[in-house]
Amino acid sequence: MGTTVDTVEIYPTGDALMQAAAQRFAACAEAAIQAAGRFVVALSGGSTPKRLYALLATEPYAGRVQWSRVHVFWGDERCVPPDDPASNYRTAREALLSRVPVPEGNVHRMRGEDDPGSAAAAYERELREIFVTPDGPPACTPARRFDLVLLGMGDNGHTASLFPGTPAVRETERWVMAQCVNAVSMWRVTLTPVIINSAAEVTFLVSGGEKAGMLRRVLKGPNMPDALPAQAIAPGHGRLRWLVDATAAADLERSCDDITGRDLQPGRIPARRR
Ligand code: 6PG
Repeated sequence: MGTTVDTVEIYPTGDALMQAAAQRFAACAEAAIQAAGRFVVALSGGSTPKRLYALLATEPYAGRVQWSRVHVFWGDERCVPPDDPASNYRTAREALLSRVPVPEGNVHRMRGEDDPGSAAAAYERELREIFVTPDGPPACTPARRFDLVLLGMGDNGHTASLFPGTPAVRETERWVMAQCVNAVSMWRVTLTPVIINSAAEVTFLVSGGEKAGMLRRVLKGPNMPDALPAQAIAPGHGRLRWLVDATAAADLERSCDDITGRDLQPGRIPARRR
């Protein structure tokens, strides 16, 4: 299998960033459908991807992607009903899924309205079924893993609902976990690094100057995934891309000698950076 290729692509504006992300999404879909007859993608939550989802629902992407062959999952969900304004499912449905012909049975939402532990267990069963892996670790082979996982990054270094110091960051077996996240005072259901890191491609989408300092820590600072969970994302047999706009990338060229990790919570002994 190919080794991980990390690329950081910096785009001059938010619009250029979303166009690049839409192009990447469509290219991944075309390749997966050609290779295996379907495209299995995990959407990210939060506000950044809303513009991407709206773009994918317009031409040329609406006509370019074979939506009937697409299976949609989520990287995480807030434990709220599906019609709640905070629901990541609702965000994607309003911006994209209500406007393109993804079959209803191919939309696999995390049931935020259910007991969090039950919802996480049910989601893991659903993933294991579609990836034909009833137990054990995910396979890193085509059609048995995500073709694409879209992720965002919070200004505290979290991604999906992998927040600093939470158990899911360190999980080594479960694919999906529920956890009460004090940082946002709510229960969340999240994919764990176990399943994310088996993906064929993981693409972070980061926009805005408020993310610049954290992006520099994540990409250039010491490896401390407990404190910076976005650093836990390292596909072993896949591709990792960071698509960022110029404002988010503003600090990347600065020297890193002042990043010592002193002001970050002490994490586990950092694994060797790839
Ligand atoms: C969520 C997301 C989360 C998000 C980051 C960035 O449910 O909130 O999955 O990981 O991607 O918090 O959010 P913004 O795009 O809103 O900055």
